[in-house]
Amino acid sequence: MSEKVNGGGAHYAVHWQEEQYVHPPASFIGQANMTDPAVFERFSLDNFPECFKEFADLLDWDQYWHTTLDTSDAPCWKWFVGGKLNASYNCVDRHLAKYKNKTAIHYVPEPEDEPIIHMTYQELYRRVNETAAVLRDFCGLKAGDRVTLQLPMTPELPITMLACARLGVIHSQVFAGFSGQACGERIWDSGSNILITMDAYYRNGKLLDHKAVGDIAVEVAKKEGQQVDKVLIWQRYPGKYSSNAPLIEGRDYFMNDLLKQYARTIVEPVSMPAEGILFLMYTSGSTGRPKGVQHSIGGYLSYVAWMSKVIQDIHPEDVYWCMADIGWITGHSFIVYGPLAIAASTVIYEGLPTYPDAGRVWRIAEELGVNIFHTSPTAIRGFRKSGPDEPAKYNYNFKHMTTVGEPIEPEVWKWYYNVVGKGKAVVVDTWWQTETGGFLCSTVPGISPMKPGSAGPGVPGIHPVILDNEGNEIPAGAGKAGNICIRNPWPGLMQTIWKDRDRYVSTYYGKYCKDPNSKDWRDWPYMAGDAAVVSADGYVRILGRVDDVINVAGHRLGTKEIESAALTIEEVAEAAVIAAKDEIKGTVPDLYVSLKPGCQASDELAVKISNAVSTVVGKIARPRNVHIVPDMPKTRSGKIMRRVLASISNRGDVGDVTSLANPDVVEKIRKQVQG
Ligand code: WT7
Repeated sequence: MSEKVNGGGAHYAVHWQEEQYVHPPASFIGQANMTDPAVFERFSLDNFPECFKEFADLLDWDQYWHTTLDTSDAPCWKWFVGGKLNASYNCVDRHLAKYKNKTAIHYVPEPEDEPIIHMTYQELYRRVNETAAVLRDFCGLKAGDRVTLQLPMTPELPITMLACARLGVIHSQVFAGFSGQACGERIWDSGSNILITMDAYYRNGKLLDHKAVGDIAVEVAKKEGQQVDKVLIWQRYPGKYSSNAPLIEGRDYFMNDLLKQYARTIVEPVSMPAEGILFLMYTSGSTGRPKGVQHSIGGYLSYVAWMSKVIQDIHPEDVYWCMADIGWITGHSFIVYGPLAIAASTVIYEGLPTYPDAGRVWRIAEELGVNIFHTSPTAIRGFRKSGPDEPAKYNYNFKHMTTVGEPIEPEVWKWYYNVVGKGKAVVVDTWWQTETGGFLCSTVPGISPMKPGSAGPGVPGIHPVILDNEGNEIPAGAGKAGNICIRNPWPGLMQTIWKDRDRYVSTYYGKYCKDPNSKDWRDWPYMAGDAAVVSADGYVRILGRVDDVINVAGHRLGTKEIESAALTIEEVAEAAVIAAKDEIKGTVPDLYVSLKPGCQASDELAVKISNAVSTVVGKIARPRNVHIVPDMPKTRSGKIMRRVLASISNRGDVGDVTSLANPDVVEKIRKQVQG
């Protein structure tokens, strides 16, 4: 726990502006998938866990389950035990009878002169089958094996994921923007001997060489002890190699060539147990090592399908665009699995939303007839800054919009509602996490009013509670912040951390579980790691992380990962990262370092340190500033006071520092940073 803990019952003043309700328009309610308030009754704790049958019934099962929830291995919950199904079948095959001519994926390349691809469910079916044939027959992959993907935002990413799912192979997609080093560590942790990548992709007008990143990843994995036997390379322009990285004979293969041998091959979907593993998604935590969040097939898929239907209100005839990257959980759940499970048409956009200009997003929306739109507060702040009047110039009409990933300021919410939504669309602010599979808090858009800046109450089936540091419940409306927990397990919750059950148990239950031998789910509130406050109406306002995690533009970065990257530079003695407030990205990392005796501070050294963070973690982790300071402010026991550094970066009050071991350094650092 860091010093910025907000969970200790700190008073939180709620401003009247934050308590305004905005009601969904009648036109929305008239068409909504869920308008019956009885849904909350149906999903009350009295009906737990059987209520979740409604989720599972959205899927096609090869074999129906006999036990809704098995708690015998608490807190590794098992959902829909005895059931068998295949995720790829549920997202593709079963839609063919009714929707084979319908667009499954609208793919928009970044260069505006390249044609948009409208891939039907029939086409998706063919491509998933052929890809699965390569994985099974050429690579020898079988159910339970892990494969690492580092694919950019192109249709080949969901195609590869679904091909894995068809075989029961566990995919671990690493965000394409991550460094080769970060990818290599994840290859090693997951034990993958196959890497699937792409030669290149567009970002902000540039064709980036991506194969080169994969080569580094393979080397890093090898050093850690994980051999990668094959690298499969999709080509951004099929038949043409768009990278300068050399091909390694006997290791590197073009997917395009391999697929020719498997044209029109049909691969039977493997019938998997509900509790089989669908994928791993690495995320940052409090230690330097990222954790492999492990999601199930039956529980996860039923959870995201229901959320796409009820909270996102997607109908088969809608055009739905979630602007996230599939390399993060938002994309897995709400570009690929949730929407495809309910036969939606989902949009994939390759590039930067503001490329080549601030109108791009709205042109895409107009051209495709997008009517459901999903993005993050960072993107919204960016749109507002770069082109506040742009949306009005385009003839698109949203009926539903989502915001996700970080707290949204009521001002920004209102701009989103009035300008992007043109005052006609509902907004759901969905709070959740990589670990939780799908939404935890949000309004049900056809039932409850919105409140700018508040995520809303728990979604049906989710029962949040705010606990203080001693484990006492802070009642709704008390105006006090605490740690937000969920009282009950749910089908979308991760199964565990890959190969690290202890970390799963201690991170999420260590603080509040009183009896680690209990098999009763009531003894295991899930601690999310966020501070929150609940108003009298039950609406939850998320205040931010209470652990050593920084949320940058809705992406989670571990401060320890950034600090260890800085420490790879010879001259650096100590490093501390804090979350600095940023107008667009919410927060960004600010890095403070002190040097070893005899080493000189210089601009070149600062750049070198900054580059190290980019190389080891990825560009998104690049610090806003590298402050080379004479010494770190420390407690008498030698702990770096990150809280003091954060106040300096954010020009706040550093508070009483007289009890520090070296109080004088605070003023020196303040002068250096603030001038
Ligand atoms: C953390 C989870 C959820 C998918 C994208 C991020 C923050 C998420 C909200 C929201 C305020 C939010 C929390 C959470 N967060 N959604 N609507 N309002 N904060 O997933 O990388 O696992 O990060 O993002 O701090 O713990 P993630």
